[in-house]
Amino acid sequence: MTKHEVVEKNIALMVLLIVVAISFGGLVEIVPLFFQKETTQPVAGLKPYTPLQLEGRDIYIREGCVGCHSQMVRPLRAEVERYGHYSVAGESVYEYPFLWGSKRTGPDLARVGGRYSDEWHRAHLYNPRDLVPESIMPAYPWLNENTLDGQLTARKMEAMRTLGVPYSDEDIAGAAVRVKGNTEMDALVAYLQSLGTTITTKR
Ligand code: HEC
Repeated sequence: MTKHEVVEKNIALMVLLIVVAISFGGLVEIVPLFFQKETTQPVAGLKPYTPLQLEGRDIYIREGCVGCHSQMVRPLRAEVERYGHYSVAGESVYEYPFLWGSKRTGPDLARVGGRYSDEWHRAHLYNPRDLVPESIMPAYPWLNENTLDGQLTARKMEAMRTLGVPYSDEDIAGAAVRVKGNTEMDALVAYLQSLGTTITTKR
């Protein structure tokens, strides 16, 4: 029996060797990225989310916006012309978890910040069809009714800090006051308006 036959006729050994081969291949691709500054350093001017934006991000996650919207402009001409500068890794270093997404039922939102007015977003989230008659995006009217109490905001920021987001003690101490009394709509719009604004290009 040749050595190859031994492997082919012993399924346990074959599975083991496949796992070893794939793991090795994966590590060779992934490990160097940990040491590439470009992927771990924030881009110039990147700021952590404000307490209100951070709450808005949690609402974005809760409502499943990521299921229809990506936040990742690919470096392809058609995308750059439509959305603006392609996304770079250094913009996502404070993102836990990242919300790049993989499904585009709606447009990419990586650079939606500043594209529309706050009023536009409010009206659109309240009922997309008021602004875009053919829209299939769901309406989120309850965002106007739910008010945030900010009780957990400081703890969320502490968790972010543990992961490496540079919040100061001051930022964290003042968080609840800055969030309290705002509606979920205020928070979500604040978050959307911040997206992709660190790198600006003419559009
Ligand atoms: C079922 C899929 C779906 C879900 C879920 C969804 N959207 Fe959309 N969204 C769309 C579609 C389709 C459009 C394009 C039509 C329109 O503007 O309404 C859109 C458009 C948008 C736009 C305008 C983007 C642009 O560049 O014109 C924003 C902002 C937006 N959505 C935010 C959100 C947010 C925030 C949530 C979660 C609260 C969300 N969407 C959930 C499908 C979805």
